[in-house]
Amino acid sequence: MLLNEIIDLIPNINKCLKKGKTLIIRIDINSPIVNGKIIDDFRIRAHSYTLRLASDAGARAVVLAHQGRPGQDDFTSLEIHKPYIEKYLERPIKFVDDIIGPEARRQIKELKDGEILLLENVRILSEEVIEKVPEAQAETLLVRKLAPLADYYVFDGFAVAHRSQPSVVGFPIVLPSCAGPVFERELRALGAVFEKRGRGVTLIAGGAKIPDTLKAVEQLLKNGFVEKVAVGGLVGFVFALGKYGVLNSALKQEVEKGGFLPYIERARQLLAKYGAQIYTPVDFAVNQNGRLDVDIYSLAQPPLDIGRSTTIAFKEVIEQSEIVIFSGPMGYIEDERFATGTIELLKAASNRRLILGGGHTIMAAEKAGVLDKAYHVSTGGRAFIQTIGGEEMPAVKALLTSAKKFSL
Ligand code: 3PG
Repeated sequence: MLLNEIIDLIPNINKCLKKGKTLIIRIDINSPIVNGKIIDDFRIRAHSYTLRLASDAGARAVVLAHQGRPGQDDFTSLEIHKPYIEKYLERPIKFVDDIIGPEARRQIKELKDGEILLLENVRILSEEVIEKVPEAQAETLLVRKLAPLADYYVFDGFAVAHRSQPSVVGFPIVLPSCAGPVFERELRALGAVFEKRGRGVTLIAGGAKIPDTLKAVEQLLKNGFVEKVAVGGLVGFVFALGKYGVLNSALKQEVEKGGFLPYIERARQLLAKYGAQIYTPVDFAVNQNGRLDVDIYSLAQPPLDIGRSTTIAFKEVIEQSEIVIFSGPMGYIEDERFATGTIELLKAASNRRLILGGGHTIMAAEKAGVLDKAYHVSTGGRAFIQTIGGEEMPAVKALLTSAKKFSL
């Protein structure tokens, strides 16, 4: 079944938007944080629309979300997200530094029509970071304590749809559930790509999510959903090693650092099978008192971007495409000198039907000034790659189970 056929089976948010009813809304506002400050609020902006719909309808919204993972630097309280939500909603919201305790439950019960209550980072609960089947997650404290206080569950957090965690898959088992607009838009946009059955569809894959990206490349080519794939970033290094073998240690060291050496063989197998469809880098940019482009045979330093010849070749591929899926940067975009490859490709792709996803790709598209020209900007990182790779998202599965169980 195609994604847009699947989404038609899940109740639309309008079925859950009822005055006086309490909704648990799972969003994903996990944002890049540096020195305790949010440096990109793209996801918060996207989900504010959903919260506005709930508030305007007079529903009482209980918002569940996470930031980072326990033990990581960006694992913080959601209190810092509150002013961003308020800015985009243009109205105050409530925040409680509690999730399932008496204070959170009291505030949920006291919500008035149209009010929004943001609960604390749900990953503070240890059970939230354990992945289990939906039926088991429905038995967690989170679901048992909060579900009885709500009428409906709305899943909007596409970016976390790949996690079988209680806040994602537990509630749909016990509450009538709807798909939020961010989630629905994502599935419809990606569904439109698959409808093309590969004709004129190109995947530009970069970044450092090696296993997920290799899987997506394989699935997309196997199922005929893309015609061509061009690879850059760390993904490109893995493919270049697969194609040319270890010509020099510069590429190998970069791949080794991430622990991805075993994936070179997988890339080699993909090239053996789909070589004519996969475009790999032929040169790279290195830092030698500034940017210097060197061909793959002369590479002696860590590569930081695709080189000039590769950029020109990839641009030609883009120009021959109708739809371009862009996932992951071609190089180290944090440094302007090495963002050139990614930015030039994004500019070329913006003249096509461009679908892009992932925090770094979005940042680069913003830098390139093409974010507004994109047909669809995905809020997902790993969820985006896994969805284009045709994997069934646990959230989708749980919502389909819910749709069968409760009639809305
Ligand atoms: C993301 O940023 O990809 C989502 O918020 C999911 O985060 P996770 O990979 O920590 O589950």
